[in-house]
Amino acid sequence: MVTAALPYANGPIHLGHMAGAYLPADIYVRYKRLINDEVLFICGSDEHGVPITIAADKAGVTPQDVVDKYHTMNADVFEKFGISFDYYGRTSSRTHREISQKFFKKLYDDGVFTKKTENQFYDAKADMFLADRYIKGTCPKCGYTEAFGDQCEKCGASLSPSELIDPVSVLSGEKPEMRETEHWYIPLGNFQDWLKEWIDSKKDWKPNVTGQCRSWLDGGLGDRAVTRDLKWGVPVPVEGADGKVLYVWFDAPIGYISATVEWAAQVGDPEGWKLFWQDEETELVHFIGKDNIVFHCIMFPAMLKAHGDYILPKNVPANEFLNLEGQKLSTSRGWAVWLHEYLEEFEPDQLRYSLATTLPETKDSDFSWKDFQTRVNSELADILGNFVFRTFSFIDRFFDKQVPPLVNPDKKDLEILNSIKKYGEGISEAYEKFKLRDAVSQTMNLARAANKYFTESEPWHTRKTDPEKCGNTLHVSAQLAAALSVYFFPVIPDACKKIRKSLSLADILQWDEVHPEMVKPGTEVSAGEILFKKLEDEIIQKQFDKLKTTEESAAPASVEYAEEKEPFEFDDFMKQDLRVGEIVAAEKIKKSKKLLKLTVNLGYETRTVVSGIAEYFEPDDLPGKRVCVVANLKPRKIMGVESKGMILMAENPADSSLSFVETDAEPGSSIS
Ligand code: MF3
Ligand code: ZN
Repeated sequence: MVTAALPYANGPIHLGHMAGAYLPADIYVRYKRLINDEVLFICGSDEHGVPITIAADKAGVTPQDVVDKYHTMNADVFEKFGISFDYYGRTSSRTHREISQKFFKKLYDDGVFTKKTENQFYDAKADMFLADRYIKGTCPKCGYTEAFGDQCEKCGASLSPSELIDPVSVLSGEKPEMRETEHWYIPLGNFQDWLKEWIDSKKDWKPNVTGQCRSWLDGGLGDRAVTRDLKWGVPVPVEGADGKVLYVWFDAPIGYISATVEWAAQVGDPEGWKLFWQDEETELVHFIGKDNIVFHCIMFPAMLKAHGDYILPKNVPANEFLNLEGQKLSTSRGWAVWLHEYLEEFEPDQLRYSLATTLPETKDSDFSWKDFQTRVNSELADILGNFVFRTFSFIDRFFDKQVPPLVNPDKKDLEILNSIKKYGEGISEAYEKFKLRDAVSQTMNLARAANKYFTESEPWHTRKTDPEKCGNTLHVSAQLAAALSVYFFPVIPDACKKIRKSLSLADILQWDEVHPEMVKPGTEVSAGEILFKKLEDEIIQKQFDKLKTTEESAAPASVEYAEEKEPFEFDDFMKQDLRVGEIVAAEKIKKSKKLLKLTVNLGYETRTVVSGIAEYFEPDDLPGKRVCVVANLKPRKIMGVESKGMILMAENPADSSLSFVETDAEPGSSIS
């Protein structure tokens, strides 16, 4: 049972979504299908929650209008991109309402919840309680004035509305009043010991996932409200709960189950869903992005455990975030690539491959159009495409379209034929461990080896000097192309189908059907079209420019400029000795997330400066930069390293990203 996080139906799908959950899930599922595992792949739209109602209020339409629009749009884009869900449900469906209500009712009847009466903000004008994002105010932790009732987007703190300073209603802009209301809570503290033991037993989970869980557990789990005073959502199915709906994070994960129930009904096996959710032998795997970890590894497992009828996740291979051209993705700033726009210009396989090579599996990673172009041109086109095209067109032109037999093969022929299975095993092993990037690069390595074999065998010479050897080269190359069409199928299904068509192979081939004699001698081969066209600089530049212009035209984010500090004397300023320094080396400091050890050339000397910028820059990108250094700052020991001086950084008030204060002046120059 494989799930991918249900995306909110309040906007289109972008690259970050794809790299976080959907592409890795799809690649994994396609691989599992190839090894004959029985696998069901479920997703759907998350159609509740305050962001959706706010979007509807703003546009002057109903929440149902909003979710209808994006549900259709997103389902369509997933399909076009080849994300092979068995079923794409939605949480506004009747089945979902019934199943999530039943789930709630069971926990309610079993006395799992505690009920609390408390004061909550209420907007008298709009006649409603202000949940989560309906309330804004100043963050008590960092002073940001636009913090939401559930979270401060500036410092990331998770908040409750009553903590906000100077709260205002998003609806009326007025100061809300306090009113009493009742809600049900799941006391996660009761699950603390069990959760800890359960997470500790997950030795094969990714360290970024267990790490986050442990820090939540170490902080101690409190009560979490599972109901809200809202009109949009699944009505709370108990007496005395009028005007209350289930908290979106309570009903959404149940959406995985209700979508499976709908799938079962659709395939004419109404009980069929039970195999996937209630059979102890079923392995449940959730693909998500890192912002969903707490819900899938703490909250939902606690709910499932409390319910008792369901299995628990076997693994939750959460990904980190994807940046775009070195900057955080931001939909409000227009710094994003939308999938439906991508598909207007390019093929799904091109992005599937290039994204797969840069998945943020263990840390945040970066997508750039330049890198996309390089992956397509130098790998898909120059290696895989070139190899396949040369093989097929050679057979077409010089062997009367027929795959020649293998006669007296030499060592090189046999070596590469015998390596096919080995590659398959290595790729499999990586997929089983959720190391998708590794699997994809091993697959490309087979194509690379095949292309090299072809070149070194020089069939264009042997055709005249040694026709038997030439035939062997093409025979072996045809086998390699066939193997690649299976091993690459999880990543680039369209291209693989084309290869198979050219080789008159079956449309679907399983992993264990790959062997060194997949293509019989005499098989008719058609040259076929070019698999991957190269991408010209202009089309790539166009995408890059588009990104810039959408960013400029996007509504300016509410920027908070830091307040100016107190005035001070000129002489005080002159006390600091600012110099131009050239970074000559940079490395991470062990056991520290934030610190980089920089070696800086100041002209008159070269010294070490420790700088807290490791989360923003890759060490390899730094050498050669000429930056501004506070040279006469008293030396300090940081994490055991003596740091002499400090590097000046500029902090962008819009997104808190950092930039160096760069100059092209010579190292050692004084700055004043
Ligand atoms: N809609 C959520 C998000 O985009 C994900 C929901 S996953 C589910 O972050 F498990 F709740 F369905
Ligand atoms: Zn804050």
